Amino acid sequence: MCGIIGYVGTENASRRLIEGLKILEYRGYDSSGICLLSRGEISIIRAVGRVENLENKVTDKDESFCGIGHTRWATHGSVSEENAHPHRVGRVTLVHNGIIENYLELRTRLEGEGYSFKSQTDTEVACALFDKYYVENVHPCVAIYRAVREIRGSYAFGIMFDGYEGRIFGLRHRSPLLVGLGSDGLYLSSDITALLPFTKTYSLIEEAEVVELREKEAIFYTHDGICDPVWQEATLNYDQAQKGGFSHFMLKEINEQSESVRKTIIPRISGGLPDFSHDGISRDIFQGIKQIHIVGCGSAYNVGCMGARLIEEYSRISASAFVASEYRYSPPANMQSTLVIAISQSGETADTLASVRYAKLCGCRVVSIINARETSLARESDKVIYTYAGPEIAVATTKGFATQLSILYLLSVYLGIFTSKLDTEVAKLKVDELDSSVRLIEGRLKDLGQIEELASLIYRKESCFFIGRSLDYFMCQEGALKLKEISYIHAQAYQAGELKHGTISLIEEGTPVISLMGEVRLLDKTLSNVKETKSRGAFTISLVPKNEKSPQECGDFVITLMGNSLIEYLFDELLCLQMLAYKVALLRGCDIDKPRNLAKSVTVE
Ligand code: G6P
Repeated sequence: MCGIIGYVGTENASRRLIEGLKILEYRGYDSSGICLLSRGEISIIRAVGRVENLENKVTDKDESFCGIGHTRWATHGSVSEENAHPHRVGRVTLVHNGIIENYLELRTRLEGEGYSFKSQTDTEVACALFDKYYVENVHPCVAIYRAVREIRGSYAFGIMFDGYEGRIFGLRHRSPLLVGLGSDGLYLSSDITALLPFTKTYSLIEEAEVVELREKEAIFYTHDGICDPVWQEATLNYDQAQKGGFSHFMLKEINEQSESVRKTIIPRISGGLPDFSHDGISRDIFQGIKQIHIVGCGSAYNVGCMGARLIEEYSRISASAFVASEYRYSPPANMQSTLVIAISQSGETADTLASVRYAKLCGCRVVSIINARETSLARESDKVIYTYAGPEIAVATTKGFATQLSILYLLSVYLGIFTSKLDTEVAKLKVDELDSSVRLIEGRLKDLGQIEELASLIYRKESCFFIGRSLDYFMCQEGALKLKEISYIHAQAYQAGELKHGTISLIEEGTPVISLMGEVRLLDKTLSNVKETKSRGAFTISLVPKNEKSPQECGDFVITLMGNSLIEYLFDELLCLQMLAYKVALLRGCDIDKPRNLAKSVTVE
């Protein structure tokens, strides 16, 4: 969501902060701001819109060696300069990620004590609270500990206190925050990628720790005194977080998918069969399990639906997917003997985390599938299966989804062997088919002519339907989400047989209906549904495996799916739908990597 950067050192702080903010911009991009300590004075510069707008406001006069910066994704209060961070109250200036849940109550109380507020944000209220406790002879650390006792919610703060020039304080609760150790100074960041241009050495700030950054040192405080930081080296490098010659991060990430899937599956295959010992997972964790719940948000939920279907199909263990924001509010009646699988690219999605906490309270074991390292979700899970997609910067996930699908597929085959519903030879064949899918991704990326043509036929449409059955339907959900997210065309996924129970009334002359038919066993059924829409004027687009039907029978525009097996068809469908959304968004002139109103990592409920 929002992003935090801070710097204190020997170099120009504004340049470093702006560079960091440009990297963080993928997290939230409705406004941004920096606070600099310049010649003993605090100066705050804020701008609505992109970081570029902020950069244009920063002049050489703003030279400083210490500052904090922020990119915002509005939660409390509209998008405006007043609501942008940093906020300053009294002698405290700060930036904040997360949500202060009791901010209204705090605000009323603080107003009663003489504070007045210029913004509608929860952040400014927190700022006033820190100021209230930052009285004479009180060290900022003590003021911080006193103030946070009154705060409910999640937060990461970067704070500057008047009187402690050249120092930045940081703390966090349920929201990530790191310290970077550079040769030119110390950094604070909510995201490791923003540290990469400056340093690869970092230390996590633990819950209940407060850090004080000075030009040459970082002091980590706990309630009991000072503790030693644990410095680590980032395995990512700066180039991985750059566009590398592609016009968009999304395009780059689509192109990285075969490599990402390959890296993800290789360590989990042994003797031609799935093996999760790489993740410290053995058969023990599945002993006694009667059902599996999969939780996730957005694309992670969509892939979770596919995972649940595959697990039931191959292992006959009962499995269901849940939208994480609903899981704990409409909990399933039976949570006994349940394994919960949480899926999250970022590992920081608030609702997914909350679902995991709920599941743990109910006594469930939790295995998470995560891409980013050192995340809150990883810490709260019993086991983690990491995907090796590398940093994903585009807001619309692509390689994150592809790697999650590959893990869920392997897991379903693993469970099939575990319950003896799949024999070893069949299981090996399925693993081989996954392996072939990787080559197939590369093949599709070299053969995009039809997708480009299709994009040119539909990009002016206002609405589009995706239909399919079983796993194809879940892929439709993802395809529709991709199109909506980045091109702003209204798109809806339907189970192919369900469309006629109401929604078919929306089909008009020329409405695109995209049907997926990788589920060959259901192809004839789906084809009948395609025809139902065709007779009502739809422009029918079908993705069909080769040799199954003559193209004329299948629709107005037919794309032949590559491969010979279900998993290959699914990966090819995924590629086609991702590229279609990308090409349509390009033709519509949309801001593909940073679609309006969205954020990459949603750390609020
Ligand atoms: C946001 C993103 C989606 C993503 C979802 C879950 O809404 O825009 O693309 O699928 O969060 O994110 P996660 O990091 O938990 O996978």
